[in-house]
Amino acid sequence: MFATMGALGLAPTAQAAQHEEPFRALRASDFTLTGRSAAKVVVLGGGIAGLTTAYELGKAGYDCMVLEARDRTGGRNFTVRGGDSTTDLYGNRQTARFAEGHYMNAGPARIPQWMVTLDYCRELGVPVEVFTNVNADAYLFNESAGMTKPVRYRTAKADVYGYVSELLAKATNKGALDKELTADDQERLVDFLQDWGALGDKLTYEGGERRGYSAVPAAAGTPGVLLGDLPTASQVFASGVGRYFSFEFGFDQAMLMFQPVGGMDQIPRALTRAVGAHRIRTGAAVGKITDKGSGVTVTYTQGGRTKVVEADYCVAAMPPNILAKIPHNLGSGVQSALEAITPSSAAKIGLEYRSRWWELDHNIYGGITETDQDVVHIWHPSYGFHGERGIMIGYYNYGDDADSYAKLAPKEREKRAVAAGVKIYGEKYRTELVSSFSHHWRQTPHLEAAWHDTPGGPDAPRYKPLNEPSGRVHFAGDWLSYTDAWQHGAFTSARKAVTAVHTRVLSD
Ligand code: ALA
Repeated sequence: MFATMGALGLAPTAQAAQHEEPFRALRASDFTLTGRSAAKVVVLGGGIAGLTTAYELGKAGYDCMVLEARDRTGGRNFTVRGGDSTTDLYGNRQTARFAEGHYMNAGPARIPQWMVTLDYCRELGVPVEVFTNVNADAYLFNESAGMTKPVRYRTAKADVYGYVSELLAKATNKGALDKELTADDQERLVDFLQDWGALGDKLTYEGGERRGYSAVPAAAGTPGVLLGDLPTASQVFASGVGRYFSFEFGFDQAMLMFQPVGGMDQIPRALTRAVGAHRIRTGAAVGKITDKGSGVTVTYTQGGRTKVVEADYCVAAMPPNILAKIPHNLGSGVQSALEAITPSSAAKIGLEYRSRWWELDHNIYGGITETDQDVVHIWHPSYGFHGERGIMIGYYNYGDDADSYAKLAPKEREKRAVAAGVKIYGEKYRTELVSSFSHHWRQTPHLEAAWHDTPGGPDAPRYKPLNEPSGRVHFAGDWLSYTDAWQHGAFTSARKAVTAVHTRVLSD
């Protein structure tokens, strides 16, 4: 039986420790001739991990019930539209006033091509479009380095690549790499640098069209005017712009990236529909988890009333910092593992503008402006191009920056974020603004984290009690994956829990 299940991908193999086995979706026919049937499973948390658990188990006919403390499913996958309200842990209540068709993704907002998230979009019929993560025409701004105006990514890259190439080419030709490279290899390296850095015949960087133009080339008679003011190598390195370039090399951040059309929450909405609303209780806060050996009892409160669910199995797909506060009998190993994982802060503010001045005046269509301000990242919308209005993300920041904004009243957050943006984009950043909405995950009830820090990684021995079931309670979430803070982690962790539950049910 075990060998057969192994062949079906339902039982772990030694290989699985290093390479995840391809997930095999459950089928109702899995129970044919086994004399067994699908069990009842209570799923704690209606975020991506919880919804996916119920969705995948549902394919084999499991009787799932999802308990979600908030009034909507999706967890940290939260898209804010006009009319949406939130109250944070400080008591700030906000209602978004965004115009019809406009939204901000307060949580996840970009999907790399390799992540299973896109497979779920395909399977669930959620259309996707390109999300612009890096844009040569977006800006870089380091006020602390003395910059008084922003520089375009393309200009900064041309200068940094140019001067690095020049220096390396010259050093190579002076024999600095004689020990490391043969004469042939040195020649190839210098050839590469000449092209990569756009160096002249004398191997010097002299600027050029890569930097951009102050008047763009057009019809005959209008060759364009190259951007002047070529900085020296010393000025370029002192400006610190080079520090932003490694971002796009990240395996999880490289272009192309994608977003669902109409908002990231199209994913949990589709999952919620597929699971069935009758299987999901919202406003249902878990109060106690009891593993009884033969089943699991979960108490929860909904509408001021305490209720009880009995199930054969439980998948706890809640944030670890919240789960750690819930009474349970799952053992001290589970509790100390949960407590070792710490919550992190992150925040965003959506700034709605009556015109798309960044397209009209700056020719910026999507992408991210990077700053040394406490707003950190400013995002241009990757949808609604050439429309009448649009929503910028005025800050996407983390840690102390996010918490310091959280402490302010929403109107003050807006004021501070706008003051930073004005330094980069000018007065329209203030004068075209019509509304804003800010969201801080550490201060969001029932979540209290943007993501989590799992010291040592999810496979460190201290987390063993969470990576295996405690009695009949299994655990799932992005925080139990190598892609924390990505939906991919929630999806793959849920798949792992589903496979484990199904394997038990087939062999019990
Ligand atoms: N996955 C999150 C991001 O892309 C952290 O910003």
